[in-house]
Amino acid sequence: MTATNTHHQASTPQHPEKVNVRVLRQDGPGQPTYWERHQVEYEENMNVISVLQRIAAQAATVEGNKVTPVAWDCGCLEEVCGSCTMVVNGKVRQSCTALVDRLLEDNSAEIELRPMTKFPVIRDLIVDRTRLFQGLERVKAWVPVDGYSDMGPGPRQSRKQQEQSYPLSQCMSCGCCLDACPQYQKIELHRRPGETEEQFEDRKREAYGSQFMGAAPISQAVLFNSHPTGNSLAEERVEALIAPGGVQACGNAQNCVAVCPKEIPLTTSIGRAGRAATVHSLKKMFDS
Ligand code: SF4
Ligand code: SF4
Ligand code: FES
Repeated sequence: MTATNTHHQASTPQHPEKVNVRVLRQDGPGQPTYWERHQVEYEENMNVISVLQRIAAQAATVEGNKVTPVAWDCGCLEEVCGSCTMVVNGKVRQSCTALVDRLLEDNSAEIELRPMTKFPVIRDLIVDRTRLFQGLERVKAWVPVDGYSDMGPGPRQSRKQQEQSYPLSQCMSCGCCLDACPQYQKIELHRRPGETEEQFEDRKREAYGSQFMGAAPISQAVLFNSHPTGNSLAEERVEALIAPGGVQACGNAQNCVAVCPKEIPLTTSIGRAGRAATVHSLKKMFDS
């Protein structure tokens, strides 16, 4: 196979015959990274996942060298689960909805794929987003229920409230907002010799626990605090927001809102969280 990227001369002159793909690979946590070039046949309506499927099936570089299949993650294939998130041509986004035709319009020479930048790489394009889920735990991003028996209909929410909450409820925990945030710094720890899996998990939990949680958990705290049942944990959520790594760590760069695929009004949520945090801190001051 050769690395040429010839343009189709006959029936579909606007499309190349081949799609060149450059993938940033990493064989495991903490391993060195390296670029690898692949080439797949162009087909109509491809997305980055279908390109990756062909790359995995070929298991050979554009130079013809046999390689292990590139690893990536995906689930729903319709921008709902967030698991396929990666950096495509420099932009953090879901690869299942990254259409090849659109990408080639911007750069016909190649498509560049790399893992998200703020999360530890597990392998190739798969990252460990534990810290994001821990952030959701920090703010108790759930509605508490007492049991599984039928408790009848929940409290009603006004239309205005529903309209405010619905956009926030669309968060799929993809992590784009964290990856793009200048205040969200990558934390990557490695298991020490002799350390058990449990000790390593505890050490990670501690390291993540006081660092900036990022926009998604802040926005989820706002969502659940505005829920008529969820707000029974409102105080605990606000405590988490005023703790180190909470809403004060936001530098208001607004990158998060620019990259959120669900167009969640994150800066509005951050503003609401900030006001709730201020009111709570003042109340605590006067109560003490
Ligand atoms: S507004 Fe805050 S959370 Fe959003 S990107 Fe900026 S610093 Fe990060
Ligand atoms: S707020 Fe948007 S960018 Fe952030 S995790 Fe949720 S869906 Fe993804
Ligand atoms: S596979 Fe679920 S968002 Fe892409």
